[in-house]
Amino acid sequence: MTIWALSDPHLAFGAPSKSMEVFGPDWKDYAEKIATHWKQQIAPSDLVLIPGDISWAMKLEEALIDLKWIDALPGTKLLIRGNHDYWWSSKAKMTPLLPPTIHCLHNDAFVWNEVAIGGSRLWDTQEYNFNTYITFQENPRARMKTPEELLKEKEEDERIFARELERLKLSLSQLKKECKTQIAMTHYPPIGADLAPSKASAILEAHQIDICVFGHLHNVKKGSLPFGEARGVKYLFTSCDYLDFIPLRVCP
Ligand SMILES: [Fe+2]
Repeated sequence: MTIWALSDPHLAFGAPSKSMEVFGPDWKDYAEKIATHWKQQIAPSDLVLIPGDISWAMKLEEALIDLKWIDALPGTKLLIRGNHDYWWSSKAKMTPLLPPTIHCLHNDAFVWNEVAIGGSRLWDTQEYNFNTYITFQENPRARMKTPEELLKEKEEDERIFARELERLKLSLSQLKKECKTQIAMTHYPPIGADLAPSKASAILEAHQIDICVFGHLHNVKKGSLPFGEARGVKYLFTSCDYLDFIPLRVCP
C-alpha cells in the first residue's frame, strides 16, 4: 500500500480542442504516457494524489469523461482543485457523481490506511517565484494584458492567496492527528525553491505535516528544482511534465 503523486495531467478527453499536445513534443501522447507508467507502477491497493489541474473541461459533465478515465486506472485517487479546474463544483454536487475510486478534498481532510491528508489550492504569491527554473514558452492561447489589467490582477491575486491560506488552515485543522503520516496537497508550490520560510510553509509546520505534494509549474528545467526537506516538511514537486509523466512515490 504505497502513496504516489502526479499533478497537472490536464486531461482533455472531455474537451479535445484543449489537448496539451500544442505545447510541444514533451506532451505528445501524454495521456497514453501517464496510463502506461501508472499501470506499470501502481497497484489497486495504492493511493494516488493528484494535486490539481486535472481536466480542461468547463463543466462537471465533461470532466466526468476524464474522471472515468482516471477511475479505470489502478488505485484509489485523491484530487484537489487546480487553477484550471473550472469544472470543479460544490461537494454536494460532485460527490454523488464521482466514479467509485475518486475522492476530492473540499476544505476537509481524508484518511487512508493511517495516513491523514488535507490541503488547499493556494494561489500566486509575491513571496517567491520560479522564473529562473522555467523555460518560458509562449502560450498559443494567451493574449497580452494591459497594465491596468495586470495591476488589478495583482490585487486580486493577493486577496485569493489570503483566502487560500485560511482554507489550508481549515483543512489541516481537520487532519486526524493519530494517523502515523500527515500529508498536505497544494496545487501551487507552498514555498520557494530555496525553502526559505513562507506563509504557507509556516501553516504546514504548525500542523506538523510530514510531506507536502504540489505542482502547477510547467516547463521547469529538468532536474533544476531542488526543494527537499525544511523544518520537518518534505516538499515534493510532482508536475507530470517535470516527472516525464511517471508517478512519484511519496511514501513509504
Ligand atoms: Fe496550474
